[in-house]
Amino acid sequence: MHFAAQKMSVLVILLLTLPAVAQFPDKFTNLQVLPKDIPKADLQSTMRGFAFALDVRCPYCHVQRPGQGFDYAADDLDTKKTARVMLQMVATINRDYVGKIGKASPIQVECVTCHRGLTQPQPLRALLIEAADKQGVDAAINMYRDLRKRYYGTGQYDFGETPLNQLAEFLLAKGRNKDAVTVMELNFASNSPQSVWAYHMLAMSHQANGEIEKAKSDYRKVVELHPDDTWAKGQLESLSAPK
Ligand code: HEC
Ligand code: HEC
Repeated sequence: MHFAAQKMSVLVILLLTLPAVAQFPDKFTNLQVLPKDIPKADLQSTMRGFAFALDVRCPYCHVQRPGQGFDYAADDLDTKKTARVMLQMVATINRDYVGKIGKASPIQVECVTCHRGLTQPQPLRALLIEAADKQGVDAAINMYRDLRKRYYGTGQYDFGETPLNQLAEFLLAKGRNKDAVTVMELNFASNSPQSVWAYHMLAMSHQANGEIEKAKSDYRKVVELHPDDTWAKGQLESLSAPK
């Protein structure tokens, strides 16, 4: 079979076997935000957009009655009510704010702009800092490892150097110097960052934790990457000066 035709028939089989698509009603009785006369195809693609944006399926927002299937019009679930508030919020953002920045066709905010395949759209930095604050640095590191295993490469979270640099900054500001070293060493082991920022954070963590030889070699790396770094040079001089 021709490749495109084969792909097409796979798609057709997929659509035919998706029960939610087969049961999609023709009449809508409880639309409060979307236009009441919205064409079926538009409502269908809006609903599929919700599901993709949050990485959920229809039952996340719609109740199923035993023996009768979905009751799409019912408002039993809080998630559906929240989604309605979100719909109004997104419309307001686009109309009253993005629409007024003076561009002919500004980028529209969508559910996925914030949600990125998550029901709770929190950035990784916030999750890690909260875990480190409330449960300790090991909890934050386990969380980083678990989320990375589960989500790496699909865009829900940034697993690059930045959130770990930010976590180390938070820990240093709290005087949790050993924890900052642990986090920065994990960052280097997982991400091999080559940025001045990461080497600065590694150097400052080692220095604050009393690991002076390591701090000096980190500052040397900063100067290698960024020869004009007067601050790193100053740190190197003062760390090398006889006490
Ligand atoms: C994130 C929550 C959410 C998800 C997921 C979701 N929906 Fe909805 N759905 C809503 C909301 C909110 C409304 C009501 C919109 C309004 O009031 O204008 C609605 C309305 C509907 C309606 C119209 C019901 C009526 O009679 O008023 C249908 C049909 C529907 N959804 C089908 C689906 C299907 C099929 C899926 C899965 C592909 C789905 N929805 C996924 C939130 C969701
Ligand atoms: C500007 C960012 C933003 C946009 C855009 C956005 N949301 Fe949200 N949404 C949030 C935040 C933040 C929360 C979490 C609030 C909380 O639980 O503290 C949330 C929560 C939710 C929840 C509840 C999740 C739960 O588990 O309790 C649903 C459902 C939801 N959003 C649906 C949508 C839908 C559907 C759209 C598009 C119409 C949308 N959101 C657009 C920021 C956004």
